[in-house]
Amino acid sequence: MKIIFATGNQGKLREVRAIVADLGIEVESMKDAGIDVDIVEDGKTFAENALIKARTVCKACGEVTMSDDSGLEIDALGGEPGIYSARYMGEDTSYHIKNMNLVERLEGVPDEKRTARFVCAIACVFPDGRELTCRETFEGRIGYEEKGENGFGYDPIFYVPEKGCYSAELSPEEKNAISHRGKALRAMRAKLEEIL
Ligand code: IMP
Repeated sequence: MKIIFATGNQGKLREVRAIVADLGIEVESMKDAGIDVDIVEDGKTFAENALIKARTVCKACGEVTMSDDSGLEIDALGGEPGIYSARYMGEDTSYHIKNMNLVERLEGVPDEKRTARFVCAIACVFPDGRELTCRETFEGRIGYEEKGENGFGYDPIFYVPEKGCYSAELSPEEKNAISHRGKALRAMRAKLEEIL
């Protein structure tokens, strides 16, 4: 079976391939499949945006399509940057600047109120109209500085209490075992296993 993954991100593709490989599912990127469609991500939740992407690409190519949408929710900022995580302060602004800005906005906020989570929603849409979705979180706290060299995006300011370190200090395997995306991909894998 073949699944198109609606992303241009090679890192995400590698993660998806590793998690569904033994189900005999081949994962192709939109580019590999020769699909180039404009997707307007105007959903109000991560799950809505993941579904919008998967539906649009599935319609364009007629193949089973999976997509994900993820981001960071900071409780003391009313859930910001949320679904706007990639676009926060502008798509081309460096994550060092975005991270420092978020830490500044939390100045004076005590540890127990610095709670935050990464969220990942995954959608899988079949040409016959069947749709599967799942959503998982990775709970932590916003720190006071950037720490660690691994990961990407907001990982350097995301402190993971259960590990006693920042997300960017975790190895890819350690992060994958507890992260929003790792958990959501494994949940989607289980749903696919049930219906295949
Ligand atoms: P998208 O899901 O590719 O639309 O973008 C999600 C955005 O959320 C990324 O650009 C990052 O800013 C942020 N994000 C999502 N997952 C992670 C993560 O595991 N670590 C750090 N930042 C993340």
